Amino acid sequence: MKISLKNQKEIKLMRIAGQITANVLEMITNYVQPQTSTNEINLLCHRYITEKRKSIPACLGYLNFPKSICISINDVVCHGIPDKNTFLMEGDIVNIDVAIIKDGYYSDASKMFFVGKVNQKKKKICEIAKKSLYIALKNIKPGIPISIIGKSIQNYVQKSRFSIVKEYCGHGIGKNFHELPQVLHYENSDHDTILKPGMTFTIEPMINEKSSDVYCCSDGWTVKTKDNGLSAQYEHTILVTDTGCEIFTLQKDENIPKIFINS
Ligand code: MF3
Ligand code: CO
Repeated sequence: MKISLKNQKEIKLMRIAGQITANVLEMITNYVQPQTSTNEINLLCHRYITEKRKSIPACLGYLNFPKSICISINDVVCHGIPDKNTFLMEGDIVNIDVAIIKDGYYSDASKMFFVGKVNQKKKKICEIAKKSLYIALKNIKPGIPISIIGKSIQNYVQKSRFSIVKEYCGHGIGKNFHELPQVLHYENSDHDTILKPGMTFTIEPMINEKSSDVYCCSDGWTVKTKDNGLSAQYEHTILVTDTGCEIFTLQKDENIPKIFINS
């Protein structure tokens, strides 16, 4: 299979899908409070996606995933399943991962939330994860190998004591949830995939406090750090443009441009 390049009509639709995904993350912010169950967060997002935005929650039923979004707390790396018996607690860091389908096109984004007051160590890992994504965005332009993404993330993260999860990567996205290319978040040798205008993919680095080792729990989904260290992740869906990239899933609290001119 080849990497699909999106035309102007497709780009318009993906921009709309991205805006909806961003708005879900904005909408849920005030509900991320101590004693709220992750199932309640799921339900609020599900209703907003389906009723308010007439869209489809892409995670629901994907490979039999049982809920509409993923919620991953503290040492959960990704794919946490919302549950009526799991409650957000003061001091938690929480990743909410939202993917939707609108008019046949997918969009996917996630960010970290603080539950009440959070300690410095937790703030730090979230900051590193966010900045590692932003640094990758600054380096994207057509004509260079996709390996620039992993290289710039690793170069940044290895200055700290944090580590990069190797088991999960970003992915092409469009008419399908997951398409080519694979987007690795660490230094790699994929120098043959060259970035081109019209490519759309996610970048979604998962950063661990200690070891990068992870395991999947017996529920078949929840991924945790082996050493119980913290983990943080940020994700955007982006378009490669003639001069850099455009973020489809930019949220209003982000202090970066929607369009990066990198060349
Ligand atoms: N947003 C994740 C991804 O990047 C979630 C996929 S797993 C799911 O692919 F089952 F929850 F959808
Ligand atoms: Co994704």
